[in-house]
This record gives sequence, structure tokens and C-alpha cells, in this order.
Amino acid sequence: MEKRTIRNAGPGDIEQIMLIESSSFHETIRENRSVFLERIAFFREGFLVLEIDDHACGYISSEIWDYSEDITATSFILNHKLSEIHTTTGSELYISSIGILEEYRGKGYGNLLLSELSRRMIEKYAISSIILLVSANWSAARRIYEKNGFEEMCRIPGFFDNGSEGIVMRKHL
Ligand SMILES: CC(C)(COP(=O)(O)OP(=O)(O)OC[C@H]1O[C@@H](n2cnc3c(N)ncnc32)[C@H](O)[C@@H]1OP(=O)(O)O)[C@@H](O)C(=O)NCCC(=O)NCCS
Repeated sequence: MEKRTIRNAGPGDIEQIMLIESSSFHETIRENRSVFLERIAFFREGFLVLEIDDHACGYISSEIWDYSEDITATSFILNHKLSEIHTTTGSELYISSIGILEEYRGKGYGNLLLSELSRRMIEKYAISSIILLVSANWSAARRIYEKNGFEEMCRIPGFFDNGSEGIVMRKHL
């Protein structure tokens, strides 16, 4: 049977994280190495790596925000600095990214990472909602979020460089 490990990311994971990032997103919307390193440096607990048989094949990253009803596109800008918005006293978990290497998709690992991150964050922080932004084109991701009780809040037309719509989804706990 395969060995599954979910652990916090460290700076030494950066090469593999960038590989997963390039396997997961078109080059125009990939985030920078420095952004991932900042996330790991400032909020390692909110950044998980999934290993299957000791091979890192997926990651999920997050931030904690103050809750707000006033959601705008600027909150979700790619490559934004976690240190400018993240606060451990906030009540909203923001899933900034998730990716699984292509050959490992469709086996429940994306869902597993989302559930595990949520569980760990809820256990430790006063989280009462989870928010994220997904492209209208990312069917597998939308499927996971809907299955986990996320609801569409609003749409941001032309959010992504290829002109696709961003869908903001939130789940109240
Ligand atoms: C989104 C992603 C992380 C999901 O990881 P995964 O390990 O494949 O996810 P799971 O196996 O847990 O679940 C995928 C679900 O999507 C469904 N799915 C897969 N492809 C689909 C498609 N094209 N259309 C609709 N549903 C789809 C699967 O059937 C499964 O649902 P089910 O459990 O009800 O059968 C992975 O697809 C990925 O890395 N995609 C590229 C990056 C991305 O889109 N990230 C999201 C950023 S918001």
C-alpha cells in the first residue's frame, strides 16, 4: 500500500513546489518562487505538502485574513505579499493555491489536502469561514470546493490573463 504523508512545507521543498506549480497552471498565471518562499517563511503551518511514497506530489497554501463582506479583486491579486494581509488573529482562512502533479490527479489527493489543511487551521485558529478564488475553467477544483460546501459569492470578470472569470467562493463553518 502507498505511504501518504502530509507535512508542513520547508524552504527545501521549493524546487518541487515550482514543478507542481508549472504542472498545474498556465505560465501566465503561475506564482513566483519568492512568493512561495515568503509563504513558507511567514506561515509554514498554512502551507502543506503531500508526499506519496516519499515523493512530494502536491501542495496547498493559505493565509489568515480578517473577515470582510467587502470582497474586491485586489484581495486576490496573484503574487500579492502574504505579510501585508496575513494575521493569525483573523477569522477567515484564504486558500491561496493548490496543485497536484498531473499524474497523481483524480485519486482524491486534492480533496485530502483541502480537508487536512482546514482541519489543522480550525483546530489551532479561530477560523469561522474559508474563502478562495477559482477560475470558471478549473472544473476539477470547482468540483472539490462544491463538494466541500463552498458557495459562490461573486464573479470577477476577466480576472485571469486569459480573460477567464474568477469565481469567489466561501464556506461558513
Ligand atoms: C484541482 C486539483 C488540485 C484537484 O486535485 P485532485 O487530486 O485531482 O482532486 P480529487 O481527486 O480529490 O478530486 C477531483 C474531483 O474533480 C472531479 N473532476 C476531475 N476532472 C474534472 C473535470 N474536468 N470536470 C469536472 N470534474 C472533474 C473528479 O471526478 C473528482 O470529483 P469526485 O471525487 O466527485 O469524483 C488538481 O486537479 C490540480 O492540481 N489542478 C490544476 C491546478 C488547479 O486548478 N488548482 C486550483 C486552484 S483554485
